Amino acid sequence: MADTEEIRGLGHSVRRVEDDRFIRGRGNYVDDVKLPGMLHMAILRSPYAHATINGIDASRAQALPGVVAVVTGELMAQHNLAWMPTMSYDTQAVLVTDKVRFQGQEVAAVIAEDPYIAKDALELIDVDYEPLEPVVTPQRALEADAPVIRTDKEDKADNHIYDWETGDKEATDAAFAAADKVVSLDTFYPRCHPAPLETCGCIADVDPATGQATIWMTSQAPHAIRTVFAMVAGLPEEKIRIISPDLGGGFGNKVPVYPGYVVATAASLLLGRPVKWIEERSENLISTGFARDFHMRGEMALKDDGTMTGLRVSLLADEGAFHADAQPSKFKVGLFGIVSGSYDLPNVHVSATGAYTNKAPGGVAYRCSFRVTEASYLIERLVQNAAYELDMDPAEIRRKNFIKPEQFPYSSATGFVYDSGDYEGALNMALEQIGYADLRREQEAARAEGTLFGIGLASFTEVVGAGPHKEYDILGLAMNDGAELRVHPTGKAILKISVQTQGQGHETTFAQIVAEELGIQPEEVKVMHGDTDNTPYGLGTYASRSTPVSGAATAMVSRRVREKAMKIAAHLLEVSEDDIEFSAGKFSVKGAPENVKTIQDVALAAYTNFPDGMEAGLEGVYYYDPPNLTFPFGTYAVAVEVDPDTGEWKVRRMVAVDDCGVRINPMIVEGQIHGGLTEGYGIAAMQLITFDDNGNCIGSNFTDYLLPTAWETPRFELGATVTPSPHHPIGAKGVGESPTVGSPAAYVNAVIDALQPLGVTNIDMPLTSGKVWQAIQAAKAKAVV
Ligand code: CDP
Repeated sequence: MADTEEIRGLGHSVRRVEDDRFIRGRGNYVDDVKLPGMLHMAILRSPYAHATINGIDASRAQALPGVVAVVTGELMAQHNLAWMPTMSYDTQAVLVTDKVRFQGQEVAAVIAEDPYIAKDALELIDVDYEPLEPVVTPQRALEADAPVIRTDKEDKADNHIYDWETGDKEATDAAFAAADKVVSLDTFYPRCHPAPLETCGCIADVDPATGQATIWMTSQAPHAIRTVFAMVAGLPEEKIRIISPDLGGGFGNKVPVYPGYVVATAASLLLGRPVKWIEERSENLISTGFARDFHMRGEMALKDDGTMTGLRVSLLADEGAFHADAQPSKFKVGLFGIVSGSYDLPNVHVSATGAYTNKAPGGVAYRCSFRVTEASYLIERLVQNAAYELDMDPAEIRRKNFIKPEQFPYSSATGFVYDSGDYEGALNMALEQIGYADLRREQEAARAEGTLFGIGLASFTEVVGAGPHKEYDILGLAMNDGAELRVHPTGKAILKISVQTQGQGHETTFAQIVAEELGIQPEEVKVMHGDTDNTPYGLGTYASRSTPVSGAATAMVSRRVREKAMKIAAHLLEVSEDDIEFSAGKFSVKGAPENVKTIQDVALAAYTNFPDGMEAGLEGVYYYDPPNLTFPFGTYAVAVEVDPDTGEWKVRRMVAVDDCGVRINPMIVEGQIHGGLTEGYGIAAMQLITFDDNGNCIGSNFTDYLLPTAWETPRFELGATVTPSPHHPIGAKGVGESPTVGSPAAYVNAVIDALQPLGVTNIDMPLTSGKVWQAIQAAKAKAVV
């Protein structure tokens, strides 16, 4: 290390080390893994949403040359594997034994010598289906005469899953009784899909001689999956090794255990050969973890001066055929309780009901912290409508009700303790950057001419970093994460982390945390993840928890290693440890800075010249149990023009001010924000997984389910404020999902703001031009009547 070389720790936009292999096409994804003797699996899926299966005849498929086996539910049942537990303490069919419950459900699997034979053989399986009435809405599901979907549950005579509530009902009702004004909004956050570019897949390799099961898997949470696998398959946990190699995106879609993983593993166990299963695009869209599908009613109680006094929310969740939300056990609708958002709302009550329908299960946290996206959308839409009702500016009503900086730590009415925030600071920056006052003047002039021009704001608060073990667990497993650090004699290090990158750049940013704490340059720290045999235990990457939890573990293990390094440095410099000070990789004697040893000197000494009585080596492990969650926030401001003749809307400006505390790598943070804003735009403008009356999934391919391309995506202008988290060792909060959480409301608010003179108060997402045009026509027709 040159004496003058700056350590590229926190705040440095270090280039992503992982990009080198990705841009050369040298990534190693699950489908790149090829093992000797490997077989291929294809899955037969139900064309019906709801149908009894009277029989399956696989003889023609079995006879096709190259087919090795056909696996049915009956065979899985013989091994007690026809059903598996979900992450929400429900059960889910692995392969059907009685009836299919959603279109695309797994009915049988073919194992063959090559993937094309496996696929061809699916057409030779004869299934005798007897169609049943499908249930495609949660409203219908809860009607007394609705067909019962979960007939597999002996005591189940309806489609009701849960009722759940949080907050104080009595106090909230009292606030509403005393309110000057009550504003309400009924809205539907539609079913959408994370749609990672790499679909799900695995290669299961169970060695018949040793019983060792090695499974390459597209998993965001390999450790948790290993434990679940051990429980489901009854295999000893130490004989299961899950390897998640490079992942082509996840966004929550790669958290659950899918039937394909279980069937491939069972097939490998039975056949004694590796079995590969790679999902096709349509399979991914119709059968794997969807997101949202929340019907929401929000009501806000206010004083005439715009002070918010109460918030009442009721939710109806469409959970699909199996309740499979991947979320902390205690929270039935995830962290929806954050619904009061950035506002000092003293009285809040949320009630939620979940229902089974004939749709794919999931309820995954698509780039979001367990339903915080729905919550943020509801409050930010409601606030804008409240501003209209009170004839206030949407920025002013927010400013008036924000939790003030001096109120932190702030206890919310639903039990969260917000760590830090400066909401007005972020709002002011966004307003200034977009030129809010000028835009409002321009809007006035445009309205006078009958042009539709709108400005939308969203001042969201997020809640990420689940979480403290007493409150946060998945299937009983504490939501804590580990980091293991070993510094080698030449001063280079290996950091092993429990979380799993899917494109977020952990190999770069986590090395920067070590750099900050130990003074080893980030390129000299190799970051390893995604292999349960070689990394410490932890619950994985989703809900922007990597930096808040495993990032904190990384800082703490670096500090633990530094403590030992201080002792070695004192030994080398022949002074007491108390006389040593550390800065940027250098241990020097207080008052005599020329007496110095570098971290590299110390690392060598740890293996060659350490004090008597000390163990050799320089390494440590740390499991971090966060004292609290972190609460990133920001304000997004959008200006749109709407064409009254077509309903088409175009984003003229989009300013996003984010505060995620201390930024480890500002460039990576901005990349995360660009990605999230694009996904938020997709949800607001074009994405929808819907179903027809027969339960057919409309949205099973990328011509029906649209991903925004560079052509449609608006240009983003970013701003940043920095309010460190007081309890995180490096003051960082998560950021990956903030833009997906916060931006849909900003886009929709802008379109609604454009249509406000017509009296339009809501259009449910996605705001396709057809829907916007219809809303304009309906408003005009109403005006004429
Ligand atoms: O859990 P996930 O990695 O998806 O989300 P995250 O913790 O928000 O981190 C996304 C990426 O941004 C990671 O590479 C983080 O280390 C980086 N990040 C950062 O540089 N500074 C922050 N304050 C937060 C995240």
